[in-house]
Amino acid sequence: MGNPKAVVLLSGGVDSTVAFSLCLQALGADRVRGVYVDTGLMRAGETELVRTMFSTMGAGTVAIETAEDQFLTPLAGICDPELKRAVIGEEFVRIQERIIEARHLVEEGWILGQGTIYPDTIESGGTSNAALIKTHHNRVPGIQKLIEEKRIVEPLKSFYKDEVREIGQELGLPTEFLERHPFPGPGLAIRCLCTDAAAPLTETSDGWIVPIRSVGVQGDCRTYGHILAVEAMPTPEARLQDRGTELVNRIREINRVIALTGSHTSLSGLCVRPSGLNKLRLDRLREADRIVREFCHATGFEKQVWQFPVVLIPLGTPTAPDSVVLRPIDSVDGMTAQSVTMPEEWLLELTGRILGVPGVAAVFYDLTHKPPGTIEWE
Ligand code: XMP
Repeated sequence: MGNPKAVVLLSGGVDSTVAFSLCLQALGADRVRGVYVDTGLMRAGETELVRTMFSTMGAGTVAIETAEDQFLTPLAGICDPELKRAVIGEEFVRIQERIIEARHLVEEGWILGQGTIYPDTIESGGTSNAALIKTHHNRVPGIQKLIEEKRIVEPLKSFYKDEVREIGQELGLPTEFLERHPFPGPGLAIRCLCTDAAAPLTETSDGWIVPIRSVGVQGDCRTYGHILAVEAMPTPEARLQDRGTELVNRIREINRVIALTGSHTSLSGLCVRPSGLNKLRLDRLREADRIVREFCHATGFEKQVWQFPVVLIPLGTPTAPDSVVLRPIDSVDGMTAQSVTMPEEWLLELTGRILGVPGVAAVFYDLTHKPPGTIEWE
């Protein structure tokens, strides 16, 4: 392709920012445009942070597109996580087409830049012998078509996360930024679990079975299973993480174990409630996530973990319909991960703060390693 012009979709994360910087260096500022899309699925303060970060980095031209309605409207009523990803991926394609048309970039030989990294392709079945462990919004049909037409550039496609951080360092990106935890492209959509059916919990001798479907990876496949909730705080002595693995191996219908860290009511008083993806629930999750991130920054716990998803699940009471699950993990490349224990005193404090969020009935701690659980719940 003669003189390509690259439009790079930015998420504010490490991968897309490094991909953008590489394109800038390779093609020069007049041939690269960055577009950050506010999907309404971002964390609290993210759009502002991106705005300041790119302007202080002097990183060429970055446009901010607000597209909350474009994403939330088709997502309303969708409970299936893979469908959520497909909708999000296709909306990204539409936005990118809109940008390209509005700016007449087709005539100038544009291509699309993405921050896809190696685990994204291998876990999505991108190589001939990889099983489909994970679906990815960067691999929806609209994007596949662009790949076939050779209208995509993915400069980081053969690198692992730690290598991407090294490249970023060489490009002179700020260390504090490069150390940001990974955040999935589909954003809070895949951390806000939805269901259309009400269902009670079932008590067993091991704990309570919560009939919410979450994803796990067993062997080479993604599997959906229920959750086991136990009424005990994770302490280092109890080695509950080991118990988590033992329980998942023994109880066929589950792929995850969570421990209650605090609630407004007992586990027997909670039930699964029909809930969709909407602004009210996303704001609830955003607030819990903000509390966790600020706490982890202040205590330094963020440096002890590789990633710390905060997940909203439709488990609660009529007045407080949701619960929050804390999912701090350690990992090297995201392909496998270990559930990390948080000091008990911190956990109590953090739990108390999250229980102050309106609509939250209980807080849980995910004890599952990957495998058998995945890092994200969907
Ligand atoms: P899992 O949940 O598959 O996650 O163990 C492994 C790593 O991948 C991230 N992840 C995603 N990133 N789009 C992304 O850009 C996605 O659809 C997606 N799903 C999972 C996850 O946050 C973790 O770092």
